Amino acid sequence: MNSFIKDTLEGLTANPKHLSSQYFYDTKGSKIFQDIMRMPEYYLTDCEMEIFTNQKQAIIEDFGLNGKHIELIELGAGDGLKTKILLSHLLKNNVDFKYLPIDISEKAVHNLVNDLKHQIPELQVTGLVGDYFKVIKSLNGKNRKILLFLGSNIGNFEEEKAISFLNHLKSVMNNGDMLLIGFDLKKEPQIILDAYNDAQGYTEAFNLNLLQRINDELGGDFDLSQFTHEEIYDEHTGTAQSYLKSKRKQSVHIKQINKIIEFKNDETIFMEISQKYDLSMIENLAQKSGFNIVRNYYDERQYFINSLWTLKN
Ligand code: AVJ
Repeated sequence: MNSFIKDTLEGLTANPKHLSSQYFYDTKGSKIFQDIMRMPEYYLTDCEMEIFTNQKQAIIEDFGLNGKHIELIELGAGDGLKTKILLSHLLKNNVDFKYLPIDISEKAVHNLVNDLKHQIPELQVTGLVGDYFKVIKSLNGKNRKILLFLGSNIGNFEEEKAISFLNHLKSVMNNGDMLLIGFDLKKEPQIILDAYNDAQGYTEAFNLNLLQRINDELGGDFDLSQFTHEEIYDEHTGTAQSYLKSKRKQSVHIKQINKIIEFKNDETIFMEISQKYDLSMIENLAQKSGFNIVRNYYDERQYFINSLWTLKN
């Protein structure tokens, strides 16, 4: 049984019901996420663009480049829009490096690499598809690595999972390697709610697309018009949560898992966590997973941090 079937069966027969946002990114979902990144309400992308634009010189100085070849490895590269700023700046400074974007979506990697080859022809780039850890392990271990995990992607993990993810990353890194990781910060709740509950309905479409994927790939018969999206933000814990809510009592049949799933009126499916952080939470996460913070780069509004980490020795 593949993990999508297994996790769907487990999540939809659990009480309360849940699905995993890691499955959002099929071809259609990756496209909707690009639309989300372009929405005015989705400030995260703008913050990171601003940090890279204004602080690219400090960032590459902190990389501690010493003339040796490096591999810049991006986990979950998507469309690479923000990374291009760093890539161009590294080239301008004659840094000897290769860019290795990794994504689970083959199409996303393919598009990004094609796009980069046109826009920055002098860039050395190889796209990689698959499981982050397996892919990084398969690389030649001799080159110094700088890993990029941007966009507050870490926020999709609950704390314990975030720590085990970072521990796992550490195991594919060597002394001297670095990690540049993005964290969305706690802020005025309405700003966060607007980013995850947009007026045009992109976030709702992003969530509903996973039900469509279950229909297409697992023979489900979800009626997408009978679910709505709901966002909750707890300002004390900094946790934003996405739900889909059943508009009525209904049953959904999913052929491949051979189950009928019953929904009560107003019953929810928990879809995604997007954790928001403060400085002490970031320090705590670095500490617990065995990293030292070299420097935190903030945007001007202090909505977001890109944090540069090394292995603790
Ligand atoms: C890609 C995980 C950073 O949680 O902000 C955007 C995904 N979900 N809108 C986030 C997402 C709804 C996004 N990350």
